[in-house]
Amino acid sequence: MGVKKSFSLKNYNTLGLDITAKYFIESSSIDEILGILSQDQYKKERLFIMGGGSNLLFKGDFHGLIIKPGFKDIYIVDDSPNYVYIKCGAGVEWDVFVEYCVDRGWGGIENLSYIPGTVGASPVQNIGAYGTEVKESIALVDYIDIEELSCKSITSEMMNFGYRDSIFKNNLKGRTLITHVTFKLSKFPKFNLSYHDVISKIEDKNENLSLYLVRDIITTIRKNKLPDPSEIGNVGSFFKNPIVDTKIALDIQRENPSLRFFDLENGYSKVPAAWLIDQCGFKGIREGNVGVHKNQALVLVAYSGATWQEVVALSQKIKRSVKNRFNIDIEPEVNIVE
Ligand code: EPU
Repeated sequence: MGVKKSFSLKNYNTLGLDITAKYFIESSSIDEILGILSQDQYKKERLFIMGGGSNLLFKGDFHGLIIKPGFKDIYIVDDSPNYVYIKCGAGVEWDVFVEYCVDRGWGGIENLSYIPGTVGASPVQNIGAYGTEVKESIALVDYIDIEELSCKSITSEMMNFGYRDSIFKNNLKGRTLITHVTFKLSKFPKFNLSYHDVISKIEDKNENLSLYLVRDIITTIRKNKLPDPSEIGNVGSFFKNPIVDTKIALDIQRENPSLRFFDLENGYSKVPAAWLIDQCGFKGIREGNVGVHKNQALVLVAYSGATWQEVVALSQKIKRSVKNRFNIDIEPEVNIVE
């Protein structure tokens, strides 16, 4: 396709914001990407690597070069009696990959069904849902080192994974263009049914436990709770669940018995940001062209015509309100591109 100028990102960010990139290219050729990155014309530009745009908030037009990795190949790199190592291109839709693995009976990522975004973004965010994080299934990441203009690989142990966090958001931030991710999946899946919603729906179904069943149930739960970005702009959870001293969580619970929090067993607890926001009365509200989803208070929604300023203003209002009422700081989960 070549590098496009003044490219509209309206269809490339799930908030549907009308943002323009000075330069944009989607490419599945390492040589082409290295060629572009070594040209003087682009070397001086700000650079941003984007995945599916499902976890991005652009604060205005992007005055630089955006590269969207388009690698779509999927192949087995190693096959043993118990495990399969499968390499997947960064540009593959995450849920297409999950389905591909579930169809073949490979377990490990079924709880991450129906998460929007691309495979290349999955290690960056360490995407997680229903008691599973992708770090448990990632073996290796191949990337282009943007500073050295060379191809490198990094193993899972080196990725410093945390809650929605990894080396790609810290030490390697801005330095990597992920081309492929290798997953280690099990041929004898161990199901993670720790999440109450999931186990109760499985019991209701009264069917034999299988990867298909888990995928089906999780997809249904997510479809019911989370708005479909093709119908209404959103980036999934807008905020992270704050981690606070367990004493603080207990104090809040004493006053508000409906609070259920997750004890991390190190003196700290994860408190659902959705609950905090809900208690502050934001669930289902609409202000101008933005609002908070009616079924999940953690999800901000952008109606047709919404601007980034409206999204930012509402998120700041929510943050202030939670701080005033509970004295807890909630931080964005969405990646903000200034
Ligand atoms: N709750 C409310 N009001 C609401 C929604 C939820 O009070 O409007 C309370 C409920 O009591 C519930 C608690 O908040 O017990 C937690 O809610 P939920 O189980 O829906 O999960 P979450 O903590 O809000 C996290 C992830 C989601 C992931 C779900 C399921 C984060 C920031 N979000 O949400 O991930 O799908 O767990 O595992 O960790 C995403 O990252 O974009 C995302 C959607």
